[in-house]
Order: sequence, then structure tokens, then C-alpha cells
Amino acid sequence: MSTVVWKGNFIYSKDAAHLNLVEQGYLVWENGISRGIFTELPGEYQGIDVRDFGDCIIVPGLCDLHAHAPQYAMRANGMDMELLDWLNTYTFPVESRYDDLEYAKAAYGQYVEALKESATTRACIFGTIHREGTLLLMELLEEAGIRGFVGKVNMDRNSPDYLREKSAQEALMDTRAWLDACGRFSRVTPILTPRFVPSCTDELMRGLSKIQEETGLPVQSHLSENFGEIAWVKELCPESENYGDAYDKLGLFGSKGKAVMAHCVHSSPAERSLMKERGVFVAHCPQSNMNLSSGVAPVRTYLEEGVSMGLGSDMAGGFSVSIFRAMSDAVQASKLRWRLLDEGLKPLSVEEAFYLGTLGGGAFFGKVGSFEAGFELDAVVIDDSRLLPPHTLSLRERLERIIYLSEDRDILEKYVAGEKIFERAVG
Ligand code: GUN
Ligand code: FE
Repeated sequence: MSTVVWKGNFIYSKDAAHLNLVEQGYLVWENGISRGIFTELPGEYQGIDVRDFGDCIIVPGLCDLHAHAPQYAMRANGMDMELLDWLNTYTFPVESRYDDLEYAKAAYGQYVEALKESATTRACIFGTIHREGTLLLMELLEEAGIRGFVGKVNMDRNSPDYLREKSAQEALMDTRAWLDACGRFSRVTPILTPRFVPSCTDELMRGLSKIQEETGLPVQSHLSENFGEIAWVKELCPESENYGDAYDKLGLFGSKGKAVMAHCVHSSPAERSLMKERGVFVAHCPQSNMNLSSGVAPVRTYLEEGVSMGLGSDMAGGFSVSIFRAMSDAVQASKLRWRLLDEGLKPLSVEEAFYLGTLGGGAFFGKVGSFEAGFELDAVVIDDSRLLPPHTLSLRERLERIIYLSEDRDILEKYVAGEKIFERAVG
């Protein structure tokens, strides 16, 4: 067993509202698992070579709880519409291209390269309905060392002919064949991915729920993002009390295994209470919610109610892969919500935004998002010297500037579960 000791400035969440700020401390890890952070190196580790990172800041890897890999190819285009028109006009035509493996290889290659260069270590990612294209995406992520969940998307209704599975039966057979082919991956794991209620028949949803029951795999989808979408779901599922209840009645809302729902901008108290009860995670996607004019999710309410939550890029409702950017967007959006909509809901603090992008979302992947003993060693080493003014800043102030100002080039090294993803030459 090889023990690694790092010296540097460590920042990680204590809880949603508080940071651990450890100046010139020690991180000890073995076999990809943290043994903890120490201000003095314990006697048992004396004599081990110490890797000294000088004045760099080391934070846990960031977690993206919701992204669409195929949409990277259309990021920052088509931001002039709301969700349903945007899907039909821009998104579905682009996603249909991933039937072509040459295209998929080129486009997914660009996305995975961007993700690799970013501070993200874990992600929950949608592919498309195409089995082979999705497997290719998984191979690229696996090679890059990024960990997390990838889903072959299911859609068998209310979708254009060129991007619709022929029947629930065929969709389920194809999903099972995809799951069989996923055995070869060790870093990425499949996740069941009904696109959203409007694009999946009850038969398909029930079949996916059965697969979840058999396999214990998690589920990802979309929930209460946009008013038109919510009204449509109400029409499609008149017997359901709310959108979340529609998933729940079909067995896909945490009753059979883990579930993460993106957006949850307009969830009612009853829907939020069901999320809490079922342990459903919210993927808060502030940039996408602004771009598609969906609204601003009541993040403070979710925090107060104790609903599990992390941040999502929602590439390409969002145009940035950066979860640092998602943190600053979350803070900014919460300020507008507070000022314009509800002065009872205080804006997010830096501590809370950082928590959501690390430990909050990390919980969906296991013991991820912290340096506490027992957590997987996901770490990003940041040289923020480029961002420092002539006067001295506290570690908290430096973190805040990293969130708002840092770029990929400031990341010196990145580790996922103890594996080095890259090391950037200095200078
Ligand atoms: N709802 C269903 N599909 C999508 C998608 O691709 N992006 C977003 N933002 N919402 C969706
Ligand atoms: Fe999405």
C-alpha cells in the first residue's frame, strides 16, 4: 500500500454553510482514499516523502450533476427560445447526428477534452438515444479518467421521427443491450435516462423502473423546468398530483433506487416534499435556467428543507462546462431572485455555492466531494498566483476569486479517485 502525503492550502466544505480552510496543512491518502487532513503530520506518517505544493490551493474535484454531452456541439447557439421550442428547433436536430459514429467521435471528443481540462472530476451525463454513440462517449470518458454516470437516452413519444425509438419494447431491448455492453467500463457506469415525461410512454417508464429494480442502477431525468413543459405534463398525466408524482407513479422517483432530477425550478411544496421523502437529488442548473428563461430555482428553500442538491452545467442549456462558473451563476441568480421575487429567501453565500458544487453533488456519486477521511481522492491543484493582488488575501477570499476568475490554465494537476488526470507544465 502506498501512502501519499501532500502539503499545501486545502479548502473543503464542513457542511452547506461552512468551509474548512487549512493553511499549509497535510493531506494523507492511500489507494485513492483520503486518510484525512492534518495541521501537523501525525507520527505514523513521518518519514514518508512529502509532496509540497507551496502556496497552491487544493480543492476537491467539482461535480456536474447534469450535462448533455451531444449538446456541446451547439453550445451558445439557439439561446433565443424557451425550452420546448428550443428542443424542437435546435436540440433534436443536433442530437440526431450522433447516429453517425464519425460525427459522434469528433463531437464527443471535443466535449470530453473540455471536461478533462476543467476542474470537474465527476459528472452525470446524457448521451442520445443511440446505443453505439453512447458507448463511444463512455469509452472517451473512461480513457480521460473522468468518473460518473452516462445514460443512453430513452424517448418513444412526442419526438420527431428522426429522433424517436420505434416502440417501448424496442427501446427497452436496446437499453438492455446497451447495459450488457457497459460491463467493460470501470470508471463510468450506466444510468437509466428517460428524457422527461413528455417523451416517454408509461410502458417505457414502467420497463425502466423494472430495470432499476433488477439492477439497482440510478435514474436521471428532468423535472419542473418550464411553465409550458409543466402544463404539458399535467395534460399527459391528469391522474398525477404533480410532475414529480408522475415519475413516482411509474416507479422512477427514488422508490427503486437513486434518482437525480434536473432543474426543479417550479416545484410545488408537495413535489419538494416527495423529493425529500424519496431522497431524490436536485441538479440545480442556474445558467441554463437563465438562458432558456426558465426561471430561478428556490435553492435556499431546498437547502432549508434538507433536499439533496448539487450543481449542473446542463450543457448546452448552459454554455459553460465549468462548475466554478455554475457556482458564481448560482450566487448571482439567487440575488436576483431575492431582490425581485422573494425577499424572504436570502441569496446564496460563497460557502453554499462551493458546497453544492463539491460535497452536495458529490453525494450522488458516493463518498465524493470532501477531503475527510474515507472520501475518494478527487482533487484539483490550483495555482492562483495570476489572480492575486499586491496585498494579502485570506484563503476564503482567494477561493472566492478562484470561483469567479479562474480558468482551466490555472489548474496545475487534477486527480480522480487517486488517478492523475493531467499535470500542466508550469510557465
Ligand atoms: N428537457 C428535456 N430535454 C431537455 C434538454 O435536453 N435540456 C433541457 N434543459 N431540458 C430538457
Ligand atoms: Fe438537461
